[in-house]
Amino acid sequence: MSELFASDINSGNIKTVGLATGSTPLDFYKYVREAQPDCKAITTVNLDEYVGLAADHDQSYSYFMHEHLFNDVAFAKHFLPDGLAKDSAAECARYDEVLAENPIDWQLLGIGGNGHIGFNEPGASFEGTTQRVQLTEETLAANARFFDSIEEVPTEAYSMGIGSILNSKKIVLLAFGEEKAAAIKAMIEGPMTNEVPATALQNHPNVTVFLDEAAASLLTK
Ligand code: GLP
Repeated sequence: MSELFASDINSGNIKTVGLATGSTPLDFYKYVREAQPDCKAITTVNLDEYVGLAADHDQSYSYFMHEHLFNDVAFAKHFLPDGLAKDSAAECARYDEVLAENPIDWQLLGIGGNGHIGFNEPGASFEGTTQRVQLTEETLAANARFFDSIEEVPTEAYSMGIGSILNSKKIVLLAFGEEKAAAIKAMIEGPMTNEVPATALQNHPNVTVFLDEAAASLLTK
């Protein structure tokens, strides 16, 4: 995975990388911090941000990215949705413009236990652009581990849509642990359905998936 990133970056063909948060990419970001590939010409766009959290809040995704990557590796520019935007529609339109101006060459993805990608929860349209979304109980419960209590987890987020994610030239999805096994099975072997957002990736021509044994444990093919 890390070698793939290094060789793709060194190819000089990548101008914009799409980045993800969560515990899954932590080792990858550690590798990038240590390997220090030359990213000075590369722009980053993140998948999502919690509504209501300022960029410097220690649970915001902006803070996460600075903490785990941006403070240590120099990039050209960073974009994330603004969790404090006053006008949601304008913020979604702004982020769609960012994506139009910075088409994603290489998109990193994790996956939720319910098959969500970014914060596109079950039922999300496969054509969706940036949206303000309501998080499911399952996602709130899963993300509560980062907060002092579940009541503190923001219930809404801005997320790139599935359509925006599918516009990426190349997608690299990581999943580790048995709590991801059912979502991975559905993503790879199940029918395409909005009920499992990650099944949208079946239609994408360039997806690479890295799994540990536990996440791959329900695959039969
Ligand atoms: C969050 C993020 C997703 C991430 C998912 C899995 O809800 N919005 O981008 O892929 O959770 O998180 P983790 O990697 O911590 O399991």
